[in-house]
Amino acid sequence: MRKLLRAVAAAAILVAPAVAQAQSPVVIKFSHVVANDTPKGKGALKFKELAEKYTDGKVKIEVYPNSSLYKDKEEIEALQLGSVQMLAPSTAKFAPLGVKEFEALDLPWLFKDDDTYAKAMKGPIGKWLFKKLEAKGITGLAYWDNGFHMVSANRPLIKPADFEGLKFRISGSKIADRYFRDLGSIPQIMAFSEVYSALQTGVVDGCENTPSNYLTQKFYEVQKDITVSYHAHLQYAVIVNSKFWNGLPADIRGELEKAMDEATDYTNSIARKENEDALASIKASGKTTLHYLTDDERKQWQTAMQPTYKWAKGRVGQEVLDLISKELDVKMN
Ligand code: LMR
Repeated sequence: MRKLLRAVAAAAILVAPAVAQAQSPVVIKFSHVVANDTPKGKGALKFKELAEKYTDGKVKIEVYPNSSLYKDKEEIEALQLGSVQMLAPSTAKFAPLGVKEFEALDLPWLFKDDDTYAKAMKGPIGKWLFKKLEAKGITGLAYWDNGFHMVSANRPLIKPADFEGLKFRISGSKIADRYFRDLGSIPQIMAFSEVYSALQTGVVDGCENTPSNYLTQKFYEVQKDITVSYHAHLQYAVIVNSKFWNGLPADIRGELEKAMDEATDYTNSIARKENEDALASIKASGKTTLHYLTDDERKQWQTAMQPTYKWAKGRVGQEVLDLISKELDVKMN
């Protein structure tokens, strides 16, 4: 009997790893910095729902919103180290990956509307940029939209001179750094999770972001004046570590790609409405004043920020500027 028990135990040890392997799902940690109730937050949860459904539970997606797992800079490092498998950072934060070219997308008034943006990312510009990531061991899966930036402070920002001497939080792009400097202000890179308290305590005077981020992070409660300038665009790239991604069984990867395609269509289809609704809620709160630029005022901002276009070449390179110029039919200086 004892012999039999020993044999059973030995057999159990032998088969245990195989059984464990068959039963334990592949875990994909998806970390991001915004609230669940935003276009990106909802997109991540949609991806989780579809991916788990299509892979029949063979993959488990753990979504960590609101910088609950990592803050901006840390999450990029974590992806490279493999401690997290999926991110969707704003493309303004890609320089630490060694791909400054993405910052070209931050040029002010580059996309004249949502449709132009969508066309650019679906077409050669989006593809060319993803190709740049490959050499860095990162695979780009999709672009997710979050609309256009507003800008705020505790004073109305109507004329370029209103920016003079104010400190603005920026998310990472040197192009944004440049256009804030063109306006005479002092930009400062800061993690998204720290912005609310920096605004509240006066570490910075102002910031830029989209309505959905202003609402869900409550920036509007600590900024007296918001200009609905829509001067630059905020987009995300959903990225994975290539080694991890290519190491997945092909059938599973295929299902995940399908889930990502559908989650992307969903996210991009709600982004505009989410931001419109967020702006309406901000307005209804009565806690801040919204300002809109006249055509003439907008032209003054554009003229003041124009030097950024010339400067951009040294930062992002001529190639991406030429491509954008050709695809979007815009002048680059
Ligand atoms: C920011 O840091 O302002 C944004 O990139 C946050 C986000 O992911 O929308």
